[in-house]
Amino acid sequence: MRYLTAGESHGPQLTTIIEGLPSLLPITAEQINYDLKRRQGGHGRGRRMQIETDTVEIVGGVRHGKTLGSPVALVVKNDDWKHWTKIMGADPLPEDIDPNEIKRQVSRPRPGHADLVGGMKYGHRDLRNVLERSSARETTVRVAVGSVAKALLKELGISIVSHVTEIGGIKADTSKVEGKTIDEIRSIVEKDPVYCVDPSASEKMVQLIDDTKKEGNSIGGVVEVIVDGMPAGVGSYVHYDRKLDGKLAQAMLSINAFKGVEFGLGFEMARIKGSEVHDEILWSEEEGYTRRTNRLGGLEGGMTTGMPIVVRGVMKPIPTLYKPLQSVDIETKEPFKASVERSDACAVPAASIVAENVIAWEIAKAIIEQFHSDQLPQLKSQIDEMRKYAKEF
Ligand SMILES: Cc1cc2nc3c(=O)[nH]c(=O)nc-3n(C[C@H](O)[C@H](O)[C@H](O)COP(=O)(O)O)c2cc1C
Repeated sequence: MRYLTAGESHGPQLTTIIEGLPSLLPITAEQINYDLKRRQGGHGRGRRMQIETDTVEIVGGVRHGKTLGSPVALVVKNDDWKHWTKIMGADPLPEDIDPNEIKRQVSRPRPGHADLVGGMKYGHRDLRNVLERSSARETTVRVAVGSVAKALLKELGISIVSHVTEIGGIKADTSKVEGKTIDEIRSIVEKDPVYCVDPSASEKMVQLIDDTKKEGNSIGGVVEVIVDGMPAGVGSYVHYDRKLDGKLAQAMLSINAFKGVEFGLGFEMARIKGSEVHDEILWSEEEGYTRRTNRLGGLEGGMTTGMPIVVRGVMKPIPTLYKPLQSVDIETKEPFKASVERSDACAVPAASIVAENVIAWEIAKAIIEQFHSDQLPQLKSQIDEMRKYAKEF
């Protein structure tokens, strides 16, 4: 299974084509739009999120609510396109126009963004050519793709949720997720302004975001994704590029501004003994093999253990600052305060939705790689067989 995306932040639309989905999978625009709306939400988002309400159009591969087995094509149009047609149009500029006169040309690279090195690499002196694609706007269609993956996982009895565990140094009490189902966690997070399970931490996070915004600054944080219902043995230990933890880590770090990833106890494992890390193995008639704890986050040897997958990612503070850091104008080579595109003070809640959806995609992809998957009913029965086999093994 694979997908590509195309489109610039202020271009006419974002496009994606997904290949390799089984046929007969129920998909609706409504379920994808729900995730798109969540990506645009969360306390701390700027004005652009109010201008645009992202909605998806399914333009290939689905008929009467079910996949056909052919490539699925999705489009998210840019509501603001009418204001950008001249600046971002695909047609060559008329000869009598000096490209330097085009509005919105960017010559001041922002520290922490792709602007400077992207310009050097692709030979763009107008850095808009870089920032239009390096912008996290592209994560809109990646969320749409993940939403389709979640529809598949749901059919297979696998559920997934994300929540924000930290913003700007304020930590949520994550013990609040213990003993809760994925649906219960989701229903708490859905109502919270920063998608957090701990109301008292959430209140402080909201306050900190407001204060940071007033200062013209930005803050990052940590998000956690939990996947429940995985059959044991997805992924493999036999080769480096088949290890599922490696693939999930790559997916997490592929999100704009994500700089670190950990599973289960994560970096805490460096500070404690083996007996406090490894999960004891149990067996019972009803459940088959389980673990007394889930400190390794559901993965051993690059394979799922059958326990929930728990993976966290850290997002750095957003690079575009209203009180900008020093930079150098590439035309004059003079020091400058970096130019400001519209920007958020904190996008960690939105990023939690991106994380949930890119992880959903990677899990769905690993399942499709491992099981016969031309059509959903065959895929379902193979997963059921795998679960039964693993229980009795
Ligand atoms: C949901 C989301 C929203 C983001 N919004 C902004 C933004 O408004 N302004 C900004 O400068 N960066 C934003 N970023 C981060 C940049 O896209 C990112 O820092 C940039 O692409 C450079 O990549 P790097 O940080 O991974 O090196 C956002 C990231 C995510 C995941």
